[in-house]
Amino acid sequence: MPSAFRRAVFPILVAGVAVFACLQFLRPELTNPPVTSELQAPPEVRNILRTACYNCHSNETQLAWFDQIVPAYWLVVQDVKTARSHLNFSELGLQPAAKQRGVLYEAISQVQLGAMPLPAYRRLHPEAVVTEQQLAVLRKYVSSLTPPAGAAEAAIAAADQQFARWAAAAGAAPKPAASPNGIEFLPEYKNWKAISATERFDNQSMRVIVGNEIAVKAIAENRIHPWPDGSAMAKIAWSQLKDRAGQVRTGAFQQVEFIIRDSRKYAATKGWGWARWVGTELKPYGKGSSFTGECVSCHEPVSANDYVYTAPVRGQQ
Ligand code: HEC
Ligand code: HEC
Repeated sequence: MPSAFRRAVFPILVAGVAVFACLQFLRPELTNPPVTSELQAPPEVRNILRTACYNCHSNETQLAWFDQIVPAYWLVVQDVKTARSHLNFSELGLQPAAKQRGVLYEAISQVQLGAMPLPAYRRLHPEAVVTEQQLAVLRKYVSSLTPPAGAAEAAIAAADQQFARWAAAAGAAPKPAASPNGIEFLPEYKNWKAISATERFDNQSMRVIVGNEIAVKAIAENRIHPWPDGSAMAKIAWSQLKDRAGQVRTGAFQQVEFIIRDSRKYAATKGWGWARWVGTELKPYGKGSSFTGECVSCHEPVSANDYVYTAPVRGQQ
């Protein structure tokens, strides 16, 4: 290297190293609060969650050496704080059994959808990847927590009556009130096409996801990064009942939720308008328009997928 060049570059290098070293002292604190009531689960289940999730979703965070170097450290601390606020396995044991089961179901569902552990984390921590076999162990455990079937006869009768009343009132039913964020109910969703159906394997609900013409066309043409304006999808949920013969069928209608694409109008909520109507009376969900924060935050893990969970089944339309 010519010495003039070396004289120019060397100080810059030294300064760079010095800045890097100083930055290491800018460390937001990350503590491990005591484990008050850990999730109660058999060891084989807990071990899987420990390896794959506890670094972010518990009070037992153990950072790898490369996670402790600034600036990576800043990102990791942020992730851990956010992750704990969403789900903390060290405190989950305080919740009632039904709530724990629901949370566990959501957790497994995030793994199954490829959203968790966070993809960037999976790349650096291959041991955290949940294998198919491990996923099967988790599913089996959550299914085993489901209350026994059979007590469902009365519920089935009630659901039949509900359906009969609903069918009789169809057409005459008044239009439901608008969602608190101003979005109007879209009765035409009943004519939209099914994109996917999912069944909660913990036997709580059956769900169908449907899309309007623009959404279905976008899927067919693989133009869903981003989804075109005008796309709309609905997720419809019924409770799931099992009769004495073991037949699974839909029970009471629970709710219908919509996402409606308009990248400008809904820029503040990630380009989608969010709305939910609950129960057969189709009561708009949410007090004030801030409820959309819940929707967006829970769809955040699939932000890379434009906030849409459902990987459409291609070639179906
Ligand atoms: C590197 C940190 C990290 C790891 C490891 C991780 N998560 Fe997360 N998780 C997050 C963050 C951050 C969020 C908040 C959503 C967002 O901002 O993307 C989140 C959100 C979630 C949510 C959504 C909770 C809600 O109701 O909004 C669930 C469920 C979840 N994680 C489950 C898991 C499971 C199960 C594992 C292990 C298989 C796991 N996570 C591993 C960081 C992590
Ligand atoms: C507890 C987490 C959670 C919350 C809160 C949530 N969602 Fe979702 N949503 C999901 C998951 C997971 C899916 C994927 C389908 C499935 O497994 O049911 C989904 C799917 C959907 C779909 C079908 C399109 C897609 O992304 O796959 C719509 C529409 C939807 N949600 C609307 C809403 C609206 C509106 C709200 C707020 C009122 C909301 N969601 C709140 C987790 C959540």
